Amino acid sequence: MLSKLENSTTLRWLGKQLFNREDPAAFFDPLLAPLDPMLVRQYVPARVERIEAETADTKTFTLKPAARWGGFRAGQHVTVSIDIDGRRHNRTFSLSCSPLRWQKEGLVTLTIKRLPGGLVTNWMHDHLEPGAVIGLGETFGEFLIPGQPEPVLFIAGGSGITPILSQLETMAAEQYHAPVTLLYFVRTQADIIAAQRLHTLRQGWPAFSLSILATETGAAPRFLNDDHLDAVPGLRARRCYLCGPGGLMELATDLLHQRGIADDHIHCTFFAAPKAALAGDSLGGEVRFSRSDVTVTAEGEVSLLDIAEAASLSPRYGCRMGICHQCSCTKTSGTVINRLTGKTSGPGEEKIQLCVSVPKGPVNLEL
Ligand code: FES
Repeated sequence: MLSKLENSTTLRWLGKQLFNREDPAAFFDPLLAPLDPMLVRQYVPARVERIEAETADTKTFTLKPAARWGGFRAGQHVTVSIDIDGRRHNRTFSLSCSPLRWQKEGLVTLTIKRLPGGLVTNWMHDHLEPGAVIGLGETFGEFLIPGQPEPVLFIAGGSGITPILSQLETMAAEQYHAPVTLLYFVRTQADIIAAQRLHTLRQGWPAFSLSILATETGAAPRFLNDDHLDAVPGLRARRCYLCGPGGLMELATDLLHQRGIADDHIHCTFFAAPKAALAGDSLGGEVRFSRSDVTVTAEGEVSLLDIAEAASLSPRYGCRMGICHQCSCTKTSGTVINRLTGKTSGPGEEKIQLCVSVPKGPVNLEL
């Protein structure tokens, strides 16, 4: 038993740890995590409840986040934190269930495909077990369904169905009555994700029509084409949502533009960062990470996030695609080019996203 003196010493020590630190959670979380990982405060812990195979390379992870988690809107993404070999990794995934499931049951799902060479996705497939606890961060994203019912066309490719599942289940639960069509492209029938959920939606929701198109089952590949779009009733009046591989997104956007559908009616969310055409020979320069007191020289079209990591720094990041803003950092001077848009920054102080910013000459960062 502790004596009175020892007790007061311990309390004073704890008080100092709590009040003399900018972030007490950073000190206490490593102590609490081994006792009960659901007690940590630096992120929202979420316990893995179930893991189900959707296809040979895609699984759905059902999670029970701590009650303090803020929830999400249909179609949004979340940052997930996972410790692998003692190192914390953040990645961004789409939530694949309706927010109503979180509100009613306290559960959410992530539907995740293995990526060739993907450290986190492959680890989740191979090592994550029910009962384990992972971290959830902010939810974000503007891939949101209309506030008022209007005709909608969804075009999904492969695992691009995941945010759209969240949207469809939300719309069905809310009895969305304007017409909704989903064109879902997969390589083969074996690659259909959430087949049963989609068929259940079609049976119970009269406004919804579904076409699942296997591109590699005939003599020649059959991608999105004019016939698919011409078969969608009232296409010109539809709000369109696209999610899938870059090639499908570009093709769909072109075909929709050809039909007079304006950009403000086309909503996209990406799997991989689209790249603007950049003049590689004018890129690169001396990059100064002032807080870390590190200066390196970079050449060509390399992002500041990659440059920092190559210099053994560990900046925070999530999606690496310019979506989540977790890699935001203050540039105190210098010019960068945004590889998504091709736009050149001003020379002065401003917030930039490291993952999509490429230096153009010398750059100073508060990192
Ligand atoms: S890591 Fe998500 S915007 Fe850079």
